[in-house]
Amino acid sequence: MIIAIDGPAAAGKGTLARRLAEHFGLAVLDTGLLYRAVGLATLRAGADPTDTNAAAAAARALAPEDLGDPALRGDEAASAASKVSALPEVRALLLDFQRSFASHPPDGAAGAVLDGRDIGTVVLPDADAKLFVTASLEVRAARRLKELRERGLEAIHSRVLRDMKERDARDSNRDVSPLEPAKDAFVLDTSDKTADEVFAAAVDFISSQVRSG
Ligand code: DC
Repeated sequence: MIIAIDGPAAAGKGTLARRLAEHFGLAVLDTGLLYRAVGLATLRAGADPTDTNAAAAAARALAPEDLGDPALRGDEAASAASKVSALPEVRALLLDFQRSFASHPPDGAAGAVLDGRDIGTVVLPDADAKLFVTASLEVRAARRLKELRERGLEAIHSRVLRDMKERDARDSNRDVSPLEPAKDAFVLDTSDKTADEVFAAAVDFISSQVRSG
């Protein structure tokens, strides 16, 4: 079973992906981490994340163990990720990594859940179930602010909101694989829902897809 989850930052994709993976016994891949790792490696190599050659070299050198670096969760990595993810060369290099994870999930799992921006549209167009998880900008910024503060980081609401707006615009307006729901995706607005409600709605949808598929 292959499940594709797409949507903007802080919409609740990661939480949902982990819960679905546990429920259905699937492996999970947060594909944003791949772009974050490439972005951060590009910065660490002393290059600009808009530099195609440097970012492509970082993507070629990417190893699964790089994905455990705690620095990937920070703002610097997020901003660099959003820049390298606009480069077609980088996207092409990461496509193989993502598809092979889905076709050969680790630890003998029965399938995989991948979450990102273009999983249902580009990476896994034949996924068994596609979800597009979204929420209003205000709600997503408030969630991100809470998450940052819980991690003991200083965060200012206006700055989080501005960064999120900029990232939304970059993700949605880029030429390659812009953020958009697949035609056959179930759109789930999480603005007024608890994590349990989101999970229940997703399980219902996936079960109906698998039954009819
Ligand atoms: O989900 P995230 O915040 O970790 O994603 C980091 C960046 O990577 C984000 O700006 C969009 C990009 N990304 C992408 O272009 N395609 C994906 N499948 C996943 C993330």
